[in-house]
Amino acid sequence: MNNENTIKANQSAKPYVAETPWLDPEAVPFIQIKGLSKQFDDFSAVDNVDLNIYKGELFTILGGSGCGKSTLLRMLAGFETPNAGQIIIDGIDMANIPAYDRPINMMFQSYAVFPHMTVEQNISYGLKKDKLAKAEIATRVKDMLELVQLSELAKRKPNQLSGGQRQRVALARALIKQPKVLLLDEPLAALDKKLREQTQFELINLQYELGITFVVVTHDQEEAMTLSTRVAVMDAGKFIQIDTPTQVYESPHNRFVANFFGTINFFNATVLSTDPEAQTLTAQLEKTGTQLEAKAEGRFSASDEVTIAVRPEKISVSQERPEGDHLTITKGTVEDLAYYGNRSVYRVRSQSGRIIQVSAQNNQRSEQLVLEWDDEVYLSWDSSCNVVLSE
Ligand SMILES: Nc1ncnc2c1ncn2[C@@H]1O[C@H](COP(=O)(O)OP(=O)(O)O)[C@@H](O)[C@H]1O
Ligand SMILES: [Mg+2]
Repeated sequence: MNNENTIKANQSAKPYVAETPWLDPEAVPFIQIKGLSKQFDDFSAVDNVDLNIYKGELFTILGGSGCGKSTLLRMLAGFETPNAGQIIIDGIDMANIPAYDRPINMMFQSYAVFPHMTVEQNISYGLKKDKLAKAEIATRVKDMLELVQLSELAKRKPNQLSGGQRQRVALARALIKQPKVLLLDEPLAALDKKLREQTQFELINLQYELGITFVVVTHDQEEAMTLSTRVAVMDAGKFIQIDTPTQVYESPHNRFVANFFGTINFFNATVLSTDPEAQTLTAQLEKTGTQLEAKAEGRFSASDEVTIAVRPEKISVSQERPEGDHLTITKGTVEDLAYYGNRSVYRVRSQSGRIIQVSAQNNQRSEQLVLEWDDEVYLSWDSSCNVVLSE
């Protein structure tokens, strides 16, 4: 245990839990999905996916509409029967366990709250159905109302609430039965942007406080980045990459993932040499003279054609040729510039004719670099920012 972890563990009342259990070969996943598939007629909605989720994670499944996210979640919950594969939760195979006996609760895409019941009645509904003692129900509802900050609104009906408040009622309803896993299908989709951002933080705090494992489905990459311990990027029923938000952003495995998270520049390059020991390669950029270095695992060899991906904010623009080690440097002509207050965006045409997008933070009051259309500039970035993609 390093110092940082010790401090964090001591500050919280909760037992110490590894913050990155997926890196620990000894850690046992709380949810194990193995070779899971679901077909509707001939159509594969979920296609042979494997996934481990650890206790206390806020795990996000991210992908476009129709890629199979809800189907996967519904199989976890027990509302949909897989055609193949296995789901193990807390060591127990779920194959013969019906939805109501799983240690799981689900908050649906259109969060169904009963319109004719008050907030309080909505939240207590599940416990009353389970015939819990009145006193116990009262205590748990009171605690839950406090947790989701709805105590003052306990007597209101859903139509007297804002979208964000209704979302919290649905969340409270799902949480009051104290599931070990909460599944949330597009939990914030019905909220407007500002409320969504605020609610994201509430959701993170709530999850942290309760220590329940959350599996969230979303099509919104910003939401996935903000919320998650890890993200599974899904496309056409398969997982394309499962990693932390930083990894999917900084080290996408392919163009699909790279493009999914914000803007990125792609360059063609030809591998000149590889160093398998250091796991690096050198390549020539776009048939210009520019040579670059990049980190790359052993799957490339000389004369391979590869794609190099570089995020706009990694690139610096200068009128003088920059000096320094491990820089990738290329030249171009300013074609477009836009000022957005906190940042500026430049579109620079490289010598090979490609448009390169550069995003610069404006952290000085007056910009030191004053660029104009048609200026000849150098673009440079640290070689560690070169991401090599093979597809
Ligand atoms: N009950 C069903 N019958 C037939 N096709 C379905 C059914 N449920 C989902 N699908 C199809 O499976 C695909 C994945 O759906 P879904 O999991 O809801 O996607 P997502 O939640 O990612 O938008 C879609 O093409 C959808 O039309
Ligand atoms: Mg869906």
